[in-house]
Amino acid sequence: MIIDWKKISNSIYTGIKQKIERLEKKPILGVILVWEDAVSLRYINQKRRFASFVWMWFAFKQLEKNISEQKLLKTINEFNEDRNISWFIVQLPLPKHLNSKKILSTINPKKDVDWFNPINMWKVLIWNDSWLVPCTPAWIMELLNSLKIDLVWKNVTIIWRSNIVWKPIAALLINAWSTVTICNSKTKNIYNFTKESDIVISATWIPKILKLDMIKSETIVIDVWFSIINWKVFGDADFDNINIAWIKITPVPGWVWPLTVAMLMKNTLKAAIWLWKI
Ligand code: GUN
Repeated sequence: MIIDWKKISNSIYTGIKQKIERLEKKPILGVILVWEDAVSLRYINQKRRFASFVWMWFAFKQLEKNISEQKLLKTINEFNEDRNISWFIVQLPLPKHLNSKKILSTINPKKDVDWFNPINMWKVLIWNDSWLVPCTPAWIMELLNSLKIDLVWKNVTIIWRSNIVWKPIAALLINAWSTVTICNSKTKNIYNFTKESDIVISATWIPKILKLDMIKSETIVIDVWFSIINWKVFGDADFDNINIAWIKITPVPGWVWPLTVAMLMKNTLKAAIWLWKI
């Protein structure tokens, strides 16, 4: 079965829109993009489109690719202090000359709607009482919830590359009493782990790393990201050769961004309600 992400994301967007329609003051999402590649720009445009769909304002600042770290930090501090911008993000990835640890740590944790500042991430990893969660882990949990999966007793394998995905999703699943194994692209015999798993979450950006014989029947496969090679989009799952009658799988391409952006809008709305006490 291919998971019907459109139904899930439509219901999230409709819910957010209905809530914002009733507010007198519209939330404002700030976005800083240091121009890195065409993919980031397309991603931002999608964020802008969905923001306007749910009646959220969008404050966008694009900076040149070779900007100095000092200038970027100055812009972040301007966003930190701008009372008109409720919450904001710095789009990733950043060009290599910029220190993303320093950049993400400079975003005021109280305006960090991605929840990437270490102070916020800490709450997800340690305390299990975080009132916001980074967007990708948030939709993975929402998706599992919408499939009515009881996470207790479940074996989950996460194959990771991105820091912003695997650590928080591992923490959320552990807190939900799943048994979590974390592999990476250099793990020996990933097969041994995936084959025993009820849920496989893959975010390696290695095209087609997840093969048919690595998965047992009825497994839920959550393919989190995609790679573009020669203008073709590939997921981590070898989608063409996986028997979709057997398993539940998220389809790549096309579906990752709308769900991540839906959670960004949801975080921004929740944060604005908290900030303005509306
Ligand atoms: N690039 C890819 N996904 C994300 C995300 O969730 N937030 C930000 N800021 N950049 C990203």
